[in-house]
Amino acid sequence: MQQRILVTGGAGFIGCNFVRHLLDRTDAAVTVLDKLTYAASPAALEGLPPDRFRLVVGDVADAPVVDPLVAVHDAVVHFAAESHNDNSLRDPTPFVHTNLVGTFTVLEAARKADVRLHHVSTDEVYGDLALDDPRRFTEDSPYRPSSPYSASKAGSDHLVRAWVRSFGVRATISTCSNSYGPWQHVEKFIPRQITNVLTGDRPKVYGTGAHVRDWIHVGDHSAAVLAILERGRVGETYLIGADGERSNVEVVRLILRLMGRDEDDFDLVSDRAGHDLRYAIDASRLREELGWLPEHGDFEAGLERTIAWYADHQDWWRPGKAAIEAAYAAKGK
Ligand code: NAD
Ligand code: TYD
Repeated sequence: MQQRILVTGGAGFIGCNFVRHLLDRTDAAVTVLDKLTYAASPAALEGLPPDRFRLVVGDVADAPVVDPLVAVHDAVVHFAAESHNDNSLRDPTPFVHTNLVGTFTVLEAARKADVRLHHVSTDEVYGDLALDDPRRFTEDSPYRPSSPYSASKAGSDHLVRAWVRSFGVRATISTCSNSYGPWQHVEKFIPRQITNVLTGDRPKVYGTGAHVRDWIHVGDHSAAVLAILERGRVGETYLIGADGERSNVEVVRLILRLMGRDEDDFDLVSDRAGHDLRYAIDASRLREELGWLPEHGDFEAGLERTIAWYADHQDWWRPGKAAIEAAYAAKGK
């Protein structure tokens, strides 16, 4: 029987890539629930088959909207969130609303209708690692969030775990590392640097640039979420990562080289408050239990395709670019 999947936040970066993945790889009927905040890209959902796809504009924290919608689906994949650390330092209010109250609202709806839920979270709930620490994050790592964003995501994970244990909600959680690829907002690190080069500006790297992120292509993140939705054990958390650790300076130098510029053609700017030093994922459980493997493990090739995508989609990102850069400049970034 055709599955009916509700994707919250499906107009955002990872959500819209996941929706396309779902439509390509399954015969599911997909509904997106999205508030269409500044971070949404309705253009990413244009041209999807009308017999298998619909968009509902609404707030995940609005129970009268969420309850009846969840009740007519077989599963919910919950991406909707405020997702940018720098914004959470400027104003944490929407982070608490969407990430905490929104997740609570989705959980209550899933509980009442007994609907399967997958909650999409982040490795940032585990805090950070020292640069020379041989360990990586595992499912047993303690929760130690640093920023209002990661604290709100950590809180949402705790709500999910409590609803599994106390009410028997059939939920799984994934904590994934930094994702990159098409449709990512230009406020984020990789799109900001690519679009800076395209507009003739210099890339901007926080602090010393020694900070390390564990990069994964959004297509691999989507495939992992689908594997967990289909075959994950209820109540479990799965880490998603593709062994892509690189320092920010390394990534910026690579972008500059791939775009034909001098690798030193970037600025070091003021650091982010509370800036996490390093994230690193051990995805053994996901690989061994569910047989998931990254298909886009070649970071340089993935970055090259992403650069080409931003060069080809200037109509999408150019209108918002100047305001984003002005907001960063006002903060010395
Ligand atoms: P994004 O900011 O690009 O998109 C978020 C989407 O959620 C937007 O379409 C927005 O309109 C929608 N939204 C926000 N508030 C809403 C509300 N109250 N009601 C309904 N919709 C609302 O985010 P993203 O980068 O695609 O991240 C998606 C999820 O993945 C988040 O939960 C995030 O924590 C998680 N995650 C992201 C990354 C990453 O590298 N981007 C890594 C790991 C996990
Ligand atoms: P970001 O994309 O904001 O993701 P996160 O904060 O979730 O890791 O940032 C990735 C890394 O890049 C992080 O170490 C902060 C850094 N960064 C810069 O150096 N310059 C920038 O302009 C931005 C946006 C981020």
